[in-house]
Formats: sequence, C-alpha cells, structure tokens
Amino acid sequence: MIVIASDHGGLNLKDEIKALLSERGVACEDLGTNNGDSVDYPDFGAKVAQRVSQGSADLGILVCGTGIGMSIVANKFPGIRAALATDVFMATMAKEHNNANILVLGGRVIDPATARAMVAAWLDTEFAAGRHQARLDKIAALEKDLRVQAP
Ligand code: RB5
Repeated sequence: MIVIASDHGGLNLKDEIKALLSERGVACEDLGTNNGDSVDYPDFGAKVAQRVSQGSADLGILVCGTGIGMSIVANKFPGIRAALATDVFMATMAKEHNNANILVLGGRVIDPATARAMVAAWLDTEFAAGRHQARLDKIAALEKDLRVQAP
C-alpha cells in the first residue's frame, strides 16, 4: 500500500502519479489535498509520513511545489527516509542506495512524463543492501541517540 499526498503546488503532479499507480495496479490511498486551494504542506506531509512511520503503509509519495518543504517535514518522523529527487537517476539511487521509503517530487520542477519515469524507477529498483544497509543502520542509531538526548 502506497500513501500519497500533496499541497496545492503538487496537486496536478499527484494526479499524474495516481494515474500511473492505477495503471500498474498498485494500491494507493490519497490523503489529500483534493483541490487547488492554498494549504500548508506540513499538514499533508505529516499525514503520509505518520502512516509510513507507523507501518500502516509500506511506502509514501509526497509532492509540493519544489519538494523541499515536504522532505523537511517527512524526515522528522522516526524511521522515515524521504528522498527529494529531480530525475530518474536520483529516484533510482533513492531506492538502490538509500532504501527511501518516501519519494518526494516537486510539482513545479518536474514534468509529468519525467515524474512517471521516476516513480516507476523507484518502485522497480531493488535496495542493494550490503554496505548500504550498514549506512542506514548508522542513520537509525543516530536517530535513536538524538531522541534520547532530546529535551
Ligand atoms: C507553496 O507555495 C510552496 O511553498 C510549497 O508547495 C513548497 O514548494 C514548499 O516547499
């Protein structure tokens, strides 16, 4: 199950990605926004990140104008590895090296065809594990330490 959300700046690209997921037969839940009214990206980024962090969704996709705000929000959540990607190579590496569980795209940055190719690459690429898993383990350890130290 993939959860997806956007703000107004990512709405059109979100619809394009939903069409791709539907064509591929991938189950997808849209957590908003549902119209072009101006909204705050943290509200929608948090919905997706919380679901993936808690394990009630396998993967997430977030879209805002640039992708920057959504990635900042999503990476606050435990266990989230949200990757902001701008081309197919980055989307591929986001899975192969970083095992990103949320892909973040910029609706005002990427054209629909590129976004489709990026999402397909991210879904179809296998995590390489090995030395890359050891690096993710270090990130997880850092996250744990920082939570213990937090005031
Ligand atoms: C909204 O205008 C815009 O700031 C938002 O979509 C995003 O680009 C933030 O990072």
